[in-house]
Amino acid sequence: MEKNIGTEEAIKRWDRYAETYSAAHTEQGDLHKEVFLNPTLLSLMGTVKNKKVLDAGCGEGYFSRILANSEAIVTAVDYSEKMLEIAKERTPIDLRINYRHGNCENLNFLEDNSFDLIISNMVIQDLANYEKVFQEMYRLLVDGGYFIFSILHPCFVTPESGWEKTKDGEKLHWNVDKYFYEGVYEQRLGDKEKMLLFHRTLTSYVNNVIRAGFILEGLIEPKPSEEMLNKYPSFEEDFRSADFIVFKLRKKIEY
Ligand SMILES: C[S@@+](CC[C@H](N)C(=O)[O-])C[C@H]1O[C@@H](n2cnc3c(N)ncnc32)[C@H](O)[C@@H]1O
Repeated sequence: MEKNIGTEEAIKRWDRYAETYSAAHTEQGDLHKEVFLNPTLLSLMGTVKNKKVLDAGCGEGYFSRILANSEAIVTAVDYSEKMLEIAKERTPIDLRINYRHGNCENLNFLEDNSFDLIISNMVIQDLANYEKVFQEMYRLLVDGGYFIFSILHPCFVTPESGWEKTKDGEKLHWNVDKYFYEGVYEQRLGDKEKMLLFHRTLTSYVNNVIRAGFILEGLIEPKPSEEMLNKYPSFEEDFRSADFIVFKLRKKIEY
């Protein structure tokens, strides 16, 4: 596929897919978010009461609502108008969330040093200019502020990866190919829509967060907890390879 296809085309597809995507989300998000991502993000971010928090790429807004229900002062940005419309519909009037339309690659309507914490849950693999997002998140954070983001694990989810199965459907191995390819690829989600994803190596991710100025404070490759395994036993297979990786970054304190 053409390598110059970028964020604008990706967002057109998000607009078309927004209803179907949101239908799979409850107030805990979808199943993968409930099992892997929410426990990880919540453990990394700590208490958010009275903190200024940006949800960068909020989608239908379930995590913005979790933040606002924890008494954070929440701004939520998404580049898909349709996603924002759904997020607003799903937000009770007494829950104050400042929803804004914008591209995380350039949020010039938001002021420098204006957030204590930025969360970006499963967004950065969906946009073209990830280096710009890291620079932009750095600009928006106060000194010492945290940027926590989750993405598809780039070592295991690549433009060509998936289970190798027997004829009877038994899962033998998770295969990975095209790891060193960097750029756009298509992935079918749901029945019809082919979404755009942007692959980079783990090295590129780490080097670009460091280049933006961040201190890497932690990494988590989430696994299902005992509690989640009891609730959803089929996630046992997720001990075989990792679907997600979560970064915890900190903006340096300038003296
Ligand atoms: C996989 S969804 C995740 C949504 C939400 N964070 C969640 O966890 O449910 C990715 C979201 O990122 C948004 N998005 C993609 N590229 C973006 C960009 N450049 N700026 C802002 N939002 C973007 C999409 O519109 C979509 O809502």
